[in-house]
Amino acid sequence: MSEVLPAEAELAPTQAELQRARARLDRLWQRGTAFLGTPYAILGGAMSWLSERHLVSAISNAGGFGVIACGAMEPDRLAEEIAATRAMTDRPFGVNLITMHPRLDDLIKVCLDASVTHIVLAGGIPPGAAIKAIKEGGAKVIAFAPALVLAKRLIKMGVDALVIEGTEAGGHVGPVSLTVLAQEILPVIQDVPVFVAGGLARGDALLGYLEMGPRVASSARALLPPKKASPTRSSKKPSCVPPRAMR
Ligand SMILES: Cc1cc2nc3c(=O)[nH]c(=O)nc-3n(C[C@H](O)[C@H](O)[C@H](O)COP(=O)(O)O)c2cc1C
Repeated sequence: MSEVLPAEAELAPTQAELQRARARLDRLWQRGTAFLGTPYAILGGAMSWLSERHLVSAISNAGGFGVIACGAMEPDRLAEEIAATRAMTDRPFGVNLITMHPRLDDLIKVCLDASVTHIVLAGGIPPGAAIKAIKEGGAKVIAFAPALVLAKRLIKMGVDALVIEGTEAGGHVGPVSLTVLAQEILPVIQDVPVFVAGGLARGDALLGYLEMGPRVASSARALLPPKKASPTRSSKKPSCVPPRAMR
């Protein structure tokens, strides 16, 4: 005899279930929302050439945390982008700096002079002097940890939060998948918020990781508007909001 499946409408959550789920989510990512100062603990992973004023302000205005990708920008250009972003949002956003940039110290100074609150250091183990300068300037440092041993070292060096990024992100950080990194690092690292990144595009995937212990998610490509923002179309405002499933 064939099984009679319940109709879709019968499976839909009730208002009370939705409220309970929302309260649970707020509890799970409370550390992340407090760290970022945003309603959603979702950080828009910086993408060189794409994460400029329009995309970053759209993410922040939608309740996430946008991050400007400095990439190869020179200090004056970065200062201009920060000011332009601030003109488009009064919500928190951060700046991603690549540590091998020859003018890293000047870029850090630009961020601090502009009162940027969160600086993501990418592209390798960040120099101790850079971490020190950022913290002395009053901003928070976020850095990438591709293995548990490095996560512990970065915390000793003073970073305020870590990103664990699986190879699902395109292999920028390393060959290990987020599934493996999460099981290696999340149960051990409790001192600082940990962002999970790499291939996250749906709320249920994010929730699975939140229940393992991180308090923030980082997502890049999933936050792009349907027609990708590009430097050549940067004057058009992207209609970016977190995908429905991630809200
Ligand atoms: C086109 C592109 C450019 C990127 N540029 C940077 C960058 O400048 N700095 C950085 O830390 N990560 C960079 N990333 C990585 C993203 O910030 C993010 O961590 C990664 O894409 C997360 O994976 P997801 O896109 O699957 O969510 C880039 C990713 C893409 C796709």
